[in-house]
Amino acid sequence: MKKLAKRVLSKDQVAELVYQALEHERGGVLIYRMALKCVQNDELREEWQEYSDATATHVEKLEEVCVAMGLDPERETPGRKIVRHLGKSLVKAMQMALDEGSPAAAELVAADCVTLAETKDHMNWELLGRAAKQLTGDARLKLTKAAATIEDEEDEHLYHTTGWARELWFQSLGMRAVLPPPEETQHVTSAIGAARAKQAAGR
Ligand SMILES: [Fe+2]
Ligand SMILES: [Fe+2]
Repeated sequence: MKKLAKRVLSKDQVAELVYQALEHERGGVLIYRMALKCVQNDELREEWQEYSDATATHVEKLEEVCVAMGLDPERETPGRKIVRHLGKSLVKAMQMALDEGSPAAAELVAADCVTLAETKDHMNWELLGRAAKQLTGDARLKLTKAAATIEDEEDEHLYHTTGWARELWFQSLGMRAVLPPPEETQHVTSAIGAARAKQAAGR
């Protein structure tokens, strides 16, 4: 009979995830700073300002998690370098759009860039929330507590921003746009909620 392989938590890879997530959040602060230069819609500006503040808090929380895990938050890893490069690339893309001189086009690029960044941010916290249960001591406590709050915030960041990006695109196409998007007005905080809100709005 085939034996099931025993799963052993890779502590090194959990550390790598924490480092990459921290780098991603730090990049997120810069992404929001640039996105706020591109945004045209006042409600979206307000929303992104709020997400920008939340992202700065996520950086602080992950730095605290690093310390609780005995990790140096500034330690460089090959994975971190790549995450940093991806974040800078999104910032550069928005700068390029701004330089082209069309505010509406730059806002669309920013919505796309924030959606891309929040997709990864959302997955990072899903992984961190699960990995926390495998840790022990103060590290487990800190990460579990952080993930409990931040996973909900990341749901909002992702689903609401995706809605904004989609509806701004419809508007640019000259088609019916629902602004603010249904995800926003219905305070969506889950994938199933987003699907329902879209369906109810005829999307
Ligand atoms: Fe975040
Ligand atoms: Fe986020």
